[in-house]
Amino acid sequence: MDCSNIQFQYVDFLETDQLNQLIGLFEAAAFWACERASEDMAIAIAHSHPVVIAWDSNELIGFARATSDGIYRATIWDVVIHPNYQGAGLGRKLVQTVLGHPHMSRIERVYLMTTRQQAFYKRIGFQENETTTMVLFHQEIEPVPDFTVVESGVASSKG
Ligand SMILES: CC(C)(COP(=O)(O)OP(=O)(O)OC[C@H]1O[C@@H](n2cnc3c(N)ncnc32)[C@H](O)[C@@H]1OP(=O)(O)O)[C@@H](O)C(=O)NCCC(=O)NCCS
Repeated sequence: MDCSNIQFQYVDFLETDQLNQLIGLFEAAAFWACERASEDMAIAIAHSHPVVIAWDSNELIGFARATSDGIYRATIWDVVIHPNYQGAGLGRKLVQTVLGHPHMSRIERVYLMTTRQQAFYKRIGFQENETTTMVLFHQEIEPVPDFTVVESGVASSKG
């Protein structure tokens, strides 16, 4: 396949039709994200940096995003290349584009979670890591009783 015309782009948000294409990409290739709603992905993108899109003309064929504190830790999420474009080096370029963003370039440790693609990430330089395996699934958490919140340097009691 000739992938020389594939464009990689950093984005801050996606237009509605682009979000719909992303949902289609997830349905085609991302088992963990195949039931996501476009409104929810808009929220995830707004809170991620960088976000990378791969385009074949106007067709969205790749996506990846990271969350990061800019210096110590970052995590890469939702790495996907459309099935028709896999195996041509685009996944590697997608991840490298995430890692190459200035917001990621000083990060001490970049994490990711994967159940099936360890071999792919190893080719890019990631190592197996067995020390960070805890997770908290979403749940209704009891509000913390009386505590002190500091906003803009002003302490106030909240209950
Ligand atoms: C995983 C994924 C992003 C890889 O993208 P890709 O474009 O097919 O990968 P590339 O062609 O860039 O592969 C880069 C290297 O990894 C290797 N590789 C890719 N997938 C591999 C796999 N499943 N097993 C072993 N090696 C693999 C390639 O052979 C290549 O090796 P090289 O260094 O010898 O050239 C893509 O297959 C995909 O979107 N899969 C479905 C979604 C998914 O599982 N995403 C990961 C979630 S954590």
